[in-house]
Amino acid sequence: MKLLITGIAGFIGHAVAQRLACQGHDIVGIDNLNDYYDVKLKYARLASLADCKDVRFVELDLSDRERMAQLFGDEKFDRVIHLAAQAGVRYSLDNPHAYADSNLVGHLNVLEGCRHHEVQHLVYASSSSVYGMNQRVPFSTDDNVDHPISLYAATKKANELMAHTYSHLYSLPTTGLRFFTVYGPWGRPDMAMFKFTKAIFEGRPIDVYNHGDMSRDFTYIDDIVEGVVRILNVIPERADGGTSHDVTPSGSAPYALYNIGHGSPVSLMDFVHAVEAATGRKAEYNFMPMQPGDVPRTFADTEALYEATGYQPQIDVEEGARRFVDWYREYYRI
Ligand SMILES: NC(=O)c1ccc[n+]([C@@H]2O[C@H](COP(=O)([O-])OP(=O)(O)OC[C@H]3O[C@@H](n4cnc5c(N)ncnc54)[C@H](O)[C@@H]3O)[C@@H](O)[C@H]2O)c1
Repeated sequence: MKLLITGIAGFIGHAVAQRLACQGHDIVGIDNLNDYYDVKLKYARLASLADCKDVRFVELDLSDRERMAQLFGDEKFDRVIHLAAQAGVRYSLDNPHAYADSNLVGHLNVLEGCRHHEVQHLVYASSSSVYGMNQRVPFSTDDNVDHPISLYAATKKANELMAHTYSHLYSLPTTGLRFFTVYGPWGRPDMAMFKFTKAIFEGRPIDVYNHGDMSRDFTYIDDIVEGVVRILNVIPERADGGTSHDVTPSGSAPYALYNIGHGSPVSLMDFVHAVEAATGRKAEYNFMPMQPGDVPRTFADTEALYEATGYQPQIDVEEGARRFVDWYREYYRI
């Protein structure tokens, strides 16, 4: 297959590319290599893909309408895995325009490229953050998510709405994946496991938000990759064509939406203890209030993903933390 992976220098994009590389696909990966976090890590991820000649990297900004149109016209992709975005809840408080450029304009450019060049399937990243303060657990894609509490979440919900529109109007098969707090080797330096591990090794206290009274459905990267790769082959159809997971009441659109989470929330302090066990060191805690835009808990209903793919995420945080810390020690030579 001819594939486009957006955000290929990012945490999840790189992991998906590693999995699909050297399997006979023709893969183009794009990324703008922005400095939201350490760019060296992004270059190192790209370097780890260099052995596979099936993967071509193009430095490109999603919001560059002309170059995006040209890329789609030149390459004629069969399927698109769209993972590039401005991520992060806290950063969106101070940098709202980055989210409009990458997540709204960028997403539109991807949809337009898919529409005009008959892409068979667009799989794109949404987020558990769309659930906001949702009280009903586990979180289901049937729940109402009209009340985002961060601009990041609002752009992710907007992505789903935009995708639905293109599925309806242009029969473009789209699948949105709501990822639940992803962690693991090559992970993001702005996320908890990376920050905790770094602080522990540097002998600094770790910041524990909401005084530790939070829980997250932490999902190991390999489980996310497995879900993405499997769902790429589950192409939604219009309801009259009979998909089991068409969330559109009218059945008007070849559109699907799934949670990908481990399916078991872990309290923040248990997560901290898993990192302490993996590093073999006890952390010093700096208890902090809840951060604006943050949600108190997440918990994925993974039933629909299982029905569609036969896959259930498997790695628990103890095992995942060990694998992350092993990678961290090797990468930073600790
Ligand atoms: N990691 C998580 O826990 C998590 C949870 C929910 C949703 N997501 C979503 O999954 C996707 C991947 O996240 P990630 O954790 O790999 O983040 P990441 O920041 O590591 O990767 C995103 C990549 O996209 C690139 N990018 C950003 N804006 C771009 C633009 N305008 N043009 C081209 N490239 C651009 C960045 O340089 C980065 O390499 C994102 O859409 C994110 O919102 C992630």
